[in-house]
Amino acid sequence: MTLPLEHLAAPAPDGSFSGIWPITARRVDGELTIGGVTASDLVAQFGSPLYVIDEADMRARAGAWKAAIDESFGELAGGEVYYAGKAFLSVAVARWMGELGLCIDTCSEGELRTALAAGVPGAKIGLHGNNKSRAEIELALEAGVGHVVVDSLAELALVEAVAGERNQTAPIVLRVTTGIHAGGHEYISTAHEDQKFGLSISTGGALRAAEEALAAPHLELVGLHSHIGSQILTLDAFTEAAKAILDLRAQIAATYDVAVPEIDFGGGYAIRYTVLDDVPPSAVTYAAALAGAVTTHVTETGLAAPKVSIEPGRSIAGPAGITIYTVGTIKSVELDDGSRRYVSVDGGMSDNVRPALYGADYTATLASREPLDENVRSRVVGKHCESGDIVVKDVALTASLGPGDLLAVPATGAYGRSMGSNYNMLPRPAVVAVKDGNARVLIRRERVDDLLALDADA
Ligand code: LLP
Repeated sequence: MTLPLEHLAAPAPDGSFSGIWPITARRVDGELTIGGVTASDLVAQFGSPLYVIDEADMRARAGAWKAAIDESFGELAGGEVYYAGKAFLSVAVARWMGELGLCIDTCSEGELRTALAAGVPGAKIGLHGNNKSRAEIELALEAGVGHVVVDSLAELALVEAVAGERNQTAPIVLRVTTGIHAGGHEYISTAHEDQKFGLSISTGGALRAAEEALAAPHLELVGLHSHIGSQILTLDAFTEAAKAILDLRAQIAATYDVAVPEIDFGGGYAIRYTVLDDVPPSAVTYAAALAGAVTTHVTETGLAAPKVSIEPGRSIAGPAGITIYTVGTIKSVELDDGSRRYVSVDGGMSDNVRPALYGADYTATLASREPLDENVRSRVVGKHCESGDIVVKDVALTASLGPGDLLAVPATGAYGRSMGSNYNMLPRPAVVAVKDGNARVLIRRERVDDLLALDADA
């Protein structure tokens, strides 16, 4: 299905950015432009395939989260927004987030060092991960991170040991599993019991970890954390998880007489990938639901309100990014219910593994000229040696599509580049940011020579 871009581009009347294209995307004289730059200029300058980030869009989404949290939690104990760098992180992106007053959630040495390279103060960085190395913990403590999110009892002991050696007190947050199961796909649901993350509330593991943390000489228990999954459209899952973790906080207060100062509700806020997807709640709606759960709990228990943080990734980076591909080979196959045209492009599962990994749906539009003629049922596929190498499973694209035309796929800003690979020795595409008619490289395109440079015998 191809709809006019203009129809999809505008933010919703309530400012909730419910369109699937970045806010500056337009069709100008038939051609897709983003940030005031045409798709063909971008490809002429930076090559294809190409990740393009609409800087204004990404900043607007980050700013909207910050404003929503400030607004909802201002009268409680305040809040922070940690941008989840796993969605997409570069030095420039970390700087944008810092300028807007967000913190950065990292979960590896690479993400942590990217945030530090951007000049983000350690105190505004969190370190996650279910299997952090000693070196990662050392780096985090050396950088003075705001908190280390501890995932297990073994890690609690490791952070205590490293902090002790460094003669430091490590601020830690305990990641707990609330038992709430939510999210777009089994692999991205993270708070049920049968998975690798976190300390279980129901088995008493979380309470025990709190006891150990409170007793540890080099740990300061600053918070409790719960992340229940990704691409979650319903508010109920968030409010139920919030209640479970707030109950744990009350239990810790009753047992050890300590009101843990901070609660982190994690990420997982949904976006639209196609116009057929439901419109997700806005940042304001999600934040108000969480604030409601906190207010109810505080009223019921008489405990002081906790400071609250959240970790949105996809809902900041996802809709801000598009991928531009160049069309190559085209063939049609006959099916029982008509024909399907296979349109091959110059990328695929190495630049966006989500369709292959999660069965994720995307859409595409002809970017280099106006799609004026009738549409044909099409499947956009990549150039990898896998039949599951699908970019867009089902989309109506103009009948005259031919080699050299450019296609644009929206909503690829999160978990595209960051989950990219070099499968089939494909160099990963560049990431460029566009703004006010200018484009600049955030991450340069890889070359085959970069890949050969890793080969000891090349
Ligand atoms: N915080 C924690 C602890 C997380 O594990 C994640 C995502 C986030 C925040 C950010 O979640 P978001 O707001 O972006 O949904 N690669 C998958 C999603 C898995 C994300 C894992 N953790 C995808 O492409 O859908």
